[in-house]
Amino acid sequence: MKDRNPSRESPEKKAAGIAAADLVSDGMVVGLGTGSTTAYTISELGRRVARGLDIIAVVTSYQSEMLAIQAGITLTSLAEHPEIDIAIDGADQIDSNLNVIKGGGAAHTREKVVSCAAKRFVIVADESKMSDQLDHYVPLEVLPYARELVFKKIKDICGDPVLRLASKKDGPVISDNGNFIIDASFGMIHDPLALSENLSHITGIVEHGIFINVDDVYIGKKNGKVGMLKSQKK
Ligand code: 5RP
Repeated sequence: MKDRNPSRESPEKKAAGIAAADLVSDGMVVGLGTGSTTAYTISELGRRVARGLDIIAVVTSYQSEMLAIQAGITLTSLAEHPEIDIAIDGADQIDSNLNVIKGGGAAHTREKVVSCAAKRFVIVADESKMSDQLDHYVPLEVLPYARELVFKKIKDICGDPVLRLASKKDGPVISDNGNFIIDASFGMIHDPLALSENLSHITGIVEHGIFINVDDVYIGKKNGKVGMLKSQKK
C-alpha cells in the first residue's frame, strides 16, 4: 500500500492542489476531499480565506474536517447545502477518459456523495496517478455484517477481495461511517462503467471507489507545471 504520510512534501501534489484553489470564488459552497493532495488545496483555501475569500465548505472525512478547521474555513453540512458549487478531491488512479479510482484513504463513500452533489467535480493529483487504463484495486466500503457475502460476490465476478487491515490497530480498518473496507483487484479494468454498475448491484457494498463523474483533472508535474484535462463525457 502506498505511503499516505501527509507530512512528506510532494511538489507535484502541492502544485496541483494549489492550482485548483484558483477555481474557487466568493460565495461558493466548496466540497473538500480527503488525502495528501487535497490537503494542499485546503491549506491554500485557508490562506485565501484569511485574505478575505468568502466561502463555506462541506467536508468528506474527519481528516478534511480537522484540516479545514485548522485552516480557518467555515464549515457547513450537506444537509444544509445539498447543492455544492465545486468539489475538489484526490485520486488513486486516473485513466485516459478521466475515469478515476478513489478510496485509498477509505473516504470514498462521502467523497462520492459530495462529488454527486457538486456542479463541478475536479480531481487533483500528481502525474504518477495517470494510466492509459485502470488496473488499481477498487476500494469497497462494506457493511461488516455482509463481509463474507461481499467476498463471495466479488469472487463470482472474478475479483480478488482483500480485507483492509489497520496499521496502528489490530484488525480491520474502520471507515468514518463505521464500516469495513475490502480492496478488490480485477486486473485490467476494460469497462469501468460496467464494473461500476456491477459493484453498485452487490448488496452489502455501501459504495465503491470507481468515479465516472469527473469534470476536470489537475495534474502536478515534475517540472513544476500543472496540466489541466477536461472530461469529454459531459
Ligand atoms: C481518499 C482518497 C484520496 O483522495 C486518494 O487516496 C488520493 O490520496 P492522495 O492525494 O494522498 O494521493 O480517495 O479516500
